[in-house]
Amino acid sequence: MYIKRIELKNFRNYKELDINLCKGVNIFYGQNAQGKTNIIESIYIASTGKSHRTQKDMELIRWNSENAKIKIEYQKEKDESIEIYLSKGIKKQIKKNGVRLFKIGELIGNLNTVIFSPDHMKIIKDGPVERRRFIDIILSQVKPGYYYNLVQYLRTLEQRNNLLNEAKMNSSILKTIDIWNEQLADFGAKIIKARHEFICNICCIAADTHNRISNEKEKLNVKYHPSVEYCNNSEKEIKESFIKALENCIRIDMKRSLTHKGPHRDDILLFINGTEVKTYSSQGQQRTALLSLKISELKYIKEETGELPVLLLDDVFSELDRERQKYLIEFIKDMQTIITCTNVEYLENFMVDETKIIKVEGGMIVT
Ligand SMILES: Nc1ncnc2c1ncn2[C@@H]1O[C@H](COP(=O)(O)OP(=O)(O)O)[C@@H](O)[C@H]1O
Ligand SMILES: [Mg+2]
Repeated sequence: MYIKRIELKNFRNYKELDINLCKGVNIFYGQNAQGKTNIIESIYIASTGKSHRTQKDMELIRWNSENAKIKIEYQKEKDESIEIYLSKGIKKQIKKNGVRLFKIGELIGNLNTVIFSPDHMKIIKDGPVERRRFIDIILSQVKPGYYYNLVQYLRTLEQRNNLLNEAKMNSSILKTIDIWNEQLADFGAKIIKARHEFICNICCIAADTHNRISNEKEKLNVKYHPSVEYCNNSEKEIKESFIKALENCIRIDMKRSLTHKGPHRDDILLFINGTEVKTYSSQGQQRTALLSLKISELKYIKEETGELPVLLLDDVFSELDRERQKYLIEFIKDMQTIITCTNVEYLENFMVDETKIIKVEGGMIVT
């Protein structure tokens, strides 16, 4: 899969941009605050429906403009296009091949991307929210129905929490909690099963990658840490365990008007040679672990969809040492990659067969 053309109108600091990309490596370089990440962001929005930097769509519209447009033309089996229209005060509109899509779930999985920026160290260092987001974005792209289940799960969760809250004033409504437990476990079991299989799958790839980058000195272990315990990963068994866990927690759930068990409390644990990466590993080991995770993400998407996603590398090279840069460049060779960097000295490293170098200055391409 590769992007052929990016067209932007009044998006961030771009009044107008129309640029063709090559199949290989595309490097956007320039000083800080010129609009390099904005390009990556526009592609990411066409891929997932959301920005990786802000929840507020209005921030994406160019100052003093009323609306913005992103159009990405890409080739999969055939030529396709995604258009995103943003207008002040109106919900964003999405089109695929000119036809309106009404749900983000219909968009995700078309233009598949893997994004990697220094900010993604959060996956390693921060709380479980970042790690759940990491899994959810990947699974939403490759597993039909995953995103839908997740949205339904979160909706049901909110309704169950509302009920717990209302039960404080009127305990008789607790009679209906079983209905919510059943529904929550129904959506939740599908999510847990998909996450379980995903982690099993990437665990080996990540371990193998990490082992090679660390010159066979380190063993990385990626472990799923589900909030609900279950014996085997059949959907039926998970659902039953989930319902039991909900029933066992009802007192504390009621006390806090919160649901304490479920995939919204899941985590992934990372270990290097048996010790937890988040707490005990050096900065260098954490970077290698992230690189290994990101490479396993690429390989997983390729395995599941039969196609390599588009790789978006925002300012990552300056953060990696030579060894890790070399390893990443090995990967770039086979797939379309969009790189941003400030330092031109790195450019020579990227010279694969097909490379396009683009200078960005003040929201414009300068040649
Ligand atoms: N909605 C907007 N309208 C106009 N300019 C914006 C908007 N949002 C961000 N910018 C500008 O975009 C620039 C940052 O772009 P970015 O792509 O993050 O830079 P970099 O080249 O460092 O990656 C800043 O100059 C910022 O002021
Ligand atoms: Mg940037």
